[in-house]
Amino acid sequence: MAFLFHFSPTIFSILFLMITSCIASNDQSPKPYVVYMGSPLNSSGDSAEIEELLHIRILSSIIPSEESERISVRHSYHHAYRGFCALLTKQEATLLSGHEEVVSVFPDPILELHTTRSWDFLGATVGSYYSTYNHSSSSNYDVIIGVIDTGIWPESPGFDDQHIGEVPSRWKGVCMEGVDFHKSNCNRKLIGARFYNIDDQDSDITEIPKSAKIPSRPPNGTPRDKVGHGTHTASIAAGAFVPNATYHGLASGIARGGSPFARIATYKACSEGYCQGSAILKAIDDAIKDGVDIISISVGKSFVFQTDFKDDPIAIGAFHAAERGVGVVCSGGNEGPDSYTVTNSAPWILTVAASTIDRNFQVNVVLGNNVSLKGTGISFYTIGRSKTYPLAFGENIPFHPSLTFQARNCMPGSLDAKRVAGKIVVCMNDGWSVSREIKKLVLQDGNAKGLILIDEKEKSSPFDSGNFPFAEFGKLAGAQILQYINSSRNPLATIFPVNEIRRFKPAPVVADFSSRGPASLTENILKPDITAPGVGILSAMIPNTDDKKSSLFGITSGTSMACPHVSGAMAFIKSIHPTWSFSMIKSAIMTTATISNNARKPLSNTSNLHASPHEIGAGELNPIKALNPGLVFETTMNDYYNFLCYYGYNEKELRLIVSNKKNFICPTNTRTTYKKELISHINYPSISIEKLEQNRILRVKRVATNVGNSPNATYTSSIFGPPGLIVRVSPSKIAFVKGIKKASFEVSFDGNKASKGYNFGVITWFDGSHDKVHMVFAVNVE
Ligand SMILES: *[C@@H]1O[C@H](CO)[C@@H](O)[C@H](O)[C@H]1NC(C)=O
Ligand SMILES: *[C@@H]1O[C@H](CO)[C@@H](O)[C@H](O)[C@H]1NC(C)=O
Ligand SMILES: *[C@@H]1O[C@H](CO)[C@@H](O)[C@H](O)[C@H]1NC(C)=O
Ligand SMILES: *[C@@H]1O[C@H](CO)[C@@H](O)[C@H](O)[C@H]1NC(C)=O
Ligand SMILES: *[C@@H]1O[C@H](CO)[C@@H](O)[C@H](O)[C@H]1NC(C)=O
Ligand SMILES: *[C@@H]1O[C@H](CO)[C@@H](O)[C@H](O)[C@H]1NC(C)=O
Ligand SMILES: *[C@@H]1O[C@H](CO)[C@@H](O)[C@H](O)[C@H]1NC(C)=O
Repeated sequence: MAFLFHFSPTIFSILFLMITSCIASNDQSPKPYVVYMGSPLNSSGDSAEIEELLHIRILSSIIPSEESERISVRHSYHHAYRGFCALLTKQEATLLSGHEEVVSVFPDPILELHTTRSWDFLGATVGSYYSTYNHSSSSNYDVIIGVIDTGIWPESPGFDDQHIGEVPSRWKGVCMEGVDFHKSNCNRKLIGARFYNIDDQDSDITEIPKSAKIPSRPPNGTPRDKVGHGTHTASIAAGAFVPNATYHGLASGIARGGSPFARIATYKACSEGYCQGSAILKAIDDAIKDGVDIISISVGKSFVFQTDFKDDPIAIGAFHAAERGVGVVCSGGNEGPDSYTVTNSAPWILTVAASTIDRNFQVNVVLGNNVSLKGTGISFYTIGRSKTYPLAFGENIPFHPSLTFQARNCMPGSLDAKRVAGKIVVCMNDGWSVSREIKKLVLQDGNAKGLILIDEKEKSSPFDSGNFPFAEFGKLAGAQILQYINSSRNPLATIFPVNEIRRFKPAPVVADFSSRGPASLTENILKPDITAPGVGILSAMIPNTDDKKSSLFGITSGTSMACPHVSGAMAFIKSIHPTWSFSMIKSAIMTTATISNNARKPLSNTSNLHASPHEIGAGELNPIKALNPGLVFETTMNDYYNFLCYYGYNEKELRLIVSNKKNFICPTNTRTTYKKELISHINYPSISIEKLEQNRILRVKRVATNVGNSPNATYTSSIFGPPGLIVRVSPSKIAFVKGIKKASFEVSFDGNKASKGYNFGVITWFDGSHDKVHMVFAVNVE
């Protein structure tokens, strides 16, 4: 008897990917490596031909001539930074890293899409932030957002170009043609599209035989999105107004991006489930060259594989983007709620955490004992609405007794099909390997009547199960369900269809999955920076061509969705304040963030406790307030250069990295024992101190710039801090007049009577009338 469920193609390809990525690699076989060579020699970018020749020459000097077919580059970087990606053995990579023009050599990393778990899709609605703002009348700069993701579905109504003027003349990008994608798919809204051959490169995850020929340009590349992630993120950032947007009647209303008049350029560097670091690095270089203002990246490495900044493609690309005035916004990851999980944490990146919005997708489950429980999920079905079905726990119906653990998690092939059919099955999520989508497919294939999932981690990000009855619960309700099954001879249950709850309180709440600070590379910069909606978000989605009723919208969750909310807000602010630098806008966004919820209480986390700055950064994004921040704290390139000195890079490395400063020197008055501590001194819009000994007083300097409506302004400080930690601001009052736009002040922290561990607080500058400027601090007392 065959009890094995048949595998759907999705399950198969996912398992294949999981298996191939685990094959141990042999040092001798060539693998793709990224060779990073710092800033271009010419500040306007080096000539592509000259650079490529140079890259080939470098390769020829280390690759044996019998393997001359490997003397070829997959990507060559030569605009905002220099370097290339090529197939190298480990030995060759080590050899190259000693080359005098090379900063670092690292294996081409695999990055993940920041939806809560790849393949398990999440979404975000753009709130009513801007409803009071008459954007069309006041925009005076055409902002271009580059989205580095899985490509785009250009037919989505959010990318319609009605009511949008000509493409800005400074735009130098292209609309690459590919399979099912033509020049006519670009328009005045979607002004550029590029792709990086990831679809077909016979998976770089697998090993490439020594003799393999390197494919030059696979024939089936395309900017078209086949996953949905890139379409979703682009439309959150800058989707046009779409009246009557809805997902099967849910979340209905006007869909629009954070900056509906901004232009979008798509850079497809990711395919199903993963992205290649070398392609992302190429995409950032191209985006800068093309002339984007803001780059939005909802992708990152797992915190487990985090590397130094100089071995991280996003950190490298974003650094050189900052040198050219281009802002980079990234998702912080979905590996919360544990500490030290935030990624994309370089100070020149705006790092985004995710929160809920005031909309909840509730699913009621009634057990046979008439106990009713409120779970979450998104499922639509009309038949058998209130019908009761037998209820079984996966653990109790394994295909074989040895598979109890797998059956408990409803993994493929683990359940006894006979005992699944006709039942509602309860599954756990004890492991990371099987997504909700797969559990659903397993049960659907077994003709189950529904799925009740017990998963503390993901319960707050509603899973869209389509027509299949589904409800998700946390540990508490889960224990109640299991207890009922255990104590009942004939357990029964009913799952009701989704019920949308609006104006849900409290909101926002930081999402359980949202990655937390402190940042593991340095705790002297507070990360994440900001929080934005990332749970249950409605936005453009690629239609399912097999399903006639398929929606053009989808509901998803993840820091992937939070990131483009901030990119869109940034574009919105830039369009009103075209002269503001990216770092001024970042400061404006951070110091005006909201720190209370719609129940007028401090923002909380899913344990219903106050959310700390390691969870939410400066607080929840409020773009309208960010238009008038009063003061900003501008972090200059010099601050970042000094950061690299304090972080530990030597001057030789920095002379390659830092643009136009071939005789760069680090600040000299640095006592080496406390070098890392100096990181806290860079002019960041928040303050973080990794270590404050109880017997020391630490002082940190900041410079504020007046961007208020009047050149005359006086701001007074007030401090909200934990008891015990003595915080002083000196001077406590700063004044600005015409011609004097900057004022500096010092903050001292005395931990003598403070409790050990992280102490959090806020310094508020107030001008007496309207502008409140919040600077969040985190101080670890030892
Ligand atoms: C730098 O630019 C100059 C003038 O445009 C050009 O002659 C030179 O070849 C460039 N150097 C490189 C390395 O591209
Ligand atoms: C917004 O501004 C435009 C142009 O000034 C004007 O025509 C329009 O009526 C305004 N809309 C609202 C809602 O104020
Ligand atoms: C939106 O829905 C309303 C009511 O259902 C309908 O009258 C209107 O034509 C729709 N608008 C669009 C643009 O589809
Ligand atoms: C919520 O915050 C509290 C206090 O900051 C912390 O102890 C708790 O672990 C947090 N809960 C979650 C789910 O992050
Ligand atoms: C549940 O409620 C129904 C209807 O109110 C009732 O007929 C039934 O006896 C109840 N069952 C239990 C176990 O309480
Ligand atoms: C089920 O009941 C048995 C015996 O009463 C007990 O040992 C077990 O822990 C229970 N399991 C659950 C999940 O409640
Ligand atoms: C600013 O202050 C100066 C000197 O205190 C005064 O002369 C000037 O009129 C003020 N300007 C404004 C716009 O208030």
